[in-house]
Amino acid sequence: MKKQILVSGGAGYIGSHVTVELINAGYDVIVADNMSNCDMTCYEGVKKITGKQDIPFVEMDFCDYGAVEKLFTDYKIDAVIHFAAFKAVGESVVKPIMYYKNNLLSFLNLLEAIQKYGACNVLFSSSATVYGETKDLPVTESTQRLPSTSPYGNTKQICEDILRDTVYAHPDIKGIALRYFNPIGAHPSALIGELPRGVPNNLVPYITQTAIGKRKCLNIFGNDYPTPDGTCLRDYIDVVDLAKAHVAAVTRMIEGRMKEDYEIFNVGTGCPISVLELVTTFEKVNNLSLNYQCVERRPGDVMAIWADTTLANQELGWKAERTIEETLKSAWQWEQYISQKENK
Ligand code: UD1
Repeated sequence: MKKQILVSGGAGYIGSHVTVELINAGYDVIVADNMSNCDMTCYEGVKKITGKQDIPFVEMDFCDYGAVEKLFTDYKIDAVIHFAAFKAVGESVVKPIMYYKNNLLSFLNLLEAIQKYGACNVLFSSSATVYGETKDLPVTESTQRLPSTSPYGNTKQICEDILRDTVYAHPDIKGIALRYFNPIGAHPSALIGELPRGVPNNLVPYITQTAIGKRKCLNIFGNDYPTPDGTCLRDYIDVVDLAKAHVAAVTRMIEGRMKEDYEIFNVGTGCPISVLELVTTFEKVNNLSLNYQCVERRPGDVMAIWADTTLANQELGWKAERTIEETLKSAWQWEQYISQKENK
């Protein structure tokens, strides 16, 4: 019988790409989402890409314990990939209670239900934000986590700790935290991708929305950093590559190949790219010119962060494959698709 994976937040940006790759790898997927930050576009896109029309979809909130329990009584679940969380750094500073309540309660509810309904593997969607303003570059999984600069980042650190402690207390629960660097791009079909609500906070959606004319001008936050061209350095990971890392990690758990009951992996490319380089590469590969200006630094930004991916390469047998050119083309194709859809 096929193994069943519950994907919480499975109708969102990363969740939908992971659902596609899980189905491609032969898993059955149950998508659960409260639709607080997405619509049905990506879920419908997943069905088109995979040709699978009967992917179970449960509209529910992980903050509702009864609804979480029901998932475990309705389905036999072999592993859970937990995305369902709020993710806007700036918003979390303004609404910390909302962030702590949503991100912690949903995860606690999930773990409580898992503990009650039996053995399960848990993959937690973490972030490079847990490393804070580290000087230790590139970062490895054993690089010390520094105090978080936002409530959002703090929820990632706390959830990692909750998972670690839960796994140690319950030998039939296994856990992996994947620390994502900067996920960007879209599926090559352009049927699923990122759908930011309102003004995007992240760089690539801001770039594509400027290119299509939804935004007048891209602001590059700071060109006076002590980096080669003065702009910040990041490790931009293609979302399809990122999704494949989830399949590798889930398979490792399900096949009992983990070396420890709780493991952590960085998921990045290992290659730093500056904001300016990203902008000029986007212009080049898509043959267009972008309206941008350099402005003040954005408070809270770290100057540079990128991953040492050795552990994920060796242990998961995974490495990033798509080039930044392919990724930035896919981001542009997705923006064009979605804008056309919106204008219909
Ligand atoms: C942030 C979060 C990270 C999260 C990621 C989601 C922190 C500190 N960062 O990363 O946890 O996983 O979003 O993708 O918690 N930039 C501009 N102009 C813009 C937007 C961004 O110049 O309009 C620059 C930023 O200054 C930064 C780079 O682009 O140097 C990337 O920014 P962004 O996409 O927002 O991601 P991060 O802040 O790195």
